Amino acid sequence: GTTWTQEIVDLIHNGGDVKNSERAPTHIRFPFIEWIFPSVVSGLEQANEMPSPRILKTHLPIHLLPPSFLEKNCKIIYVARNPKDNMVSYYHFQRMNKGLPDPGTWEEYFETFLAGKVCWGSWYDHVKGWWEAKDQHRILYLFYEEMKKNPKHEIQKLAEFMGKTLDDKVLEKIVHHTSFDVMKQNPMANYSSIPTEVMNHSISPFMRKGTVGDWKKHFTVAQNERFDEDYKEKMADTSLTFHFQL
Ligand SMILES: *[C@@H]1O[C@H](CO)[C@@H](O)[C@H](O)[C@H]1NC(C)=O
Ligand SMILES: *[C@@H]1O[C@H](CO)[C@@H](O)[C@H](O)[C@H]1NC(C)=O
Repeated sequence: GTTWTQEIVDLIHNGGDVKNSERAPTHIRFPFIEWIFPSVVSGLEQANEMPSPRILKTHLPIHLLPPSFLEKNCKIIYVARNPKDNMVSYYHFQRMNKGLPDPGTWEEYFETFLAGKVCWGSWYDHVKGWWEAKDQHRILYLFYEEMKKNPKHEIQKLAEFMGKTLDDKVLEKIVHHTSFDVMKQNPMANYSSIPTEVMNHSISPFMRKGTVGDWKKHFTVAQNERFDEDYKEKMADTSLTFHFQL
């Protein structure tokens, strides 16, 4: 969802200029502010060298976001995804990304995820924290499932939030260029420029499926029941709701 939204935002920003969006791979176009990898320029250094307006990437939960983002009234776009698909996606991502901990078996990872012991912390704290803050700050809260269901509508919403007016032709072009199949074949968006030692696409491709409901192929009946029970408890104190299928 992050890479997808970054591509959309870049294209809205440049008025649908696909050639321009192919100027560099995703991780060069958008500094990942909390990312530090030995021997590679850090996200922060990258951001400092970039002229305004900058489009930055972060996975931080709101309580770890540098407060200046809110104090300076930066525009923030947040993308949430239902936790079952999130877990499956994260599991396969950790398998192929050697910069993250080895997820172990699916059964092991299921427990790790439920305990919130994944990088960037508990999914529950993450989605609820940003949800509670969204009305006090300039935060556009998007849902992966809505973006899948009606990409044109959600892209239009993003454009409005960014203060851009796009004609229908440009909007259609952005919808096409940011569809899963097109992005999977876009070498500037599919992370194929990262060394295989860091991201090994033959274990699991970075652009894996991009669907809603793939969790059904991973969760056992028992895991699903356990998950639903835990979800009910942890989501009892929020108005936030999710769709688990389209
Ligand atoms: C990335 O895109 C290139 C160019 O279309 C393609 O050859 C390659 O298979 C893609 N990589 C992945 C992992 O999907
Ligand atoms: C990538 O994964 C494949 C399949 O597991 C393995 O054969 C290959 O050695 C790996 N490549 C690297 C560079 O680790």
